[in-house]
Amino acid sequence: MNKVIEAKNLTKIYGKKAAAFTALKNINLSIYEGESVAIVGKSGSGKSTLMHILALLDRPTKGEILIDGKNASKLKNKELNKLRNERFGFVFQQFFMNANDTVLENVLLPLKIAKLGRKKRKKEALEALKIVDLESKVKNKATDLSGGQKQRVCIARAIVNQPQVIFADEPTGNLDSATGDKITDLLFDLNKKHGVTLIIVTHDEDLAKLCNRVVRISDGKIISDQTVRKDLKKAASKKRETEAARVKKANERK
Ligand SMILES: Nc1ncnc2c1ncn2[C@@H]1O[C@H](COP(=O)(O)OP(=O)(O)O)[C@@H](O)[C@H]1O
Ligand SMILES: [Mg+2]
Repeated sequence: MNKVIEAKNLTKIYGKKAAAFTALKNINLSIYEGESVAIVGKSGSGKSTLMHILALLDRPTKGEILIDGKNASKLKNKELNKLRNERFGFVFQQFFMNANDTVLENVLLPLKIAKLGRKKRKKEALEALKIVDLESKVKNKATDLSGGQKQRVCIARAIVNQPQVIFADEPTGNLDSATGDKITDLLFDLNKKHGVTLIIVTHDEDLAKLCNRVVRISDGKIISDQTVRKDLKKAASKKRETEAARVKKANERK
């Protein structure tokens, strides 16, 4: 499997001297193409800090991030911004849209940054809005939407560039459960049908269970990292072994 992001010995220290706080301690983590990864931990454990660094939104104090094997620590901000805009999509509550712009304008922003032509960006933004079922709201102002609709606009904006990786920080945190389920379905559809790698920060265990990998963090350290798909394979082969043994025994009895 292709490694899309690799974090090596990441340490993040906020503040200086007496006020210094170590939010991440020597984190090593590789994310593979097509995975769905939940980053789970208590509030203040360092989840968002880790996600921001993996997503090239912030730089570590020590350590490195490799994107497709290339060292991002050596890139200038302008190059980082370009890489991020091309490869990554974000569904973050605090990264909300430009409230006075229309839904359409918000969604085509990443394409504008990528310098796509006017017609093409409109066409692609409309396609993304169709996927999240918001075609009827394209002309509305972003402020005039419900919480779930706003989150769907965020998803449309996150996918409009056809990113390799989508980062979602508590994507269902502020939503009622039915709306949260819809957002969850949308994200996992992108993963399963389009192979988009998902990295989701959550403290919702039910959401974490849907991911094929769960990374748990506590006090800035990874305390467990489990890939469920492997376990499923193991479980399946175990089941086959048991079944084969049962058939063998049954045959012996004949
Ligand atoms: N800009 C900052 N300056 C100082 N401390 C910060 C800053 N951002 C986060 N922290 C601290 O780092 C720790 C981890 O924060 P965060 O990554 O946001 O945790 P989580 O997302 O798991 O709730 C917390 O103790 C938080 O107070
Ligand atoms: Mg957080």
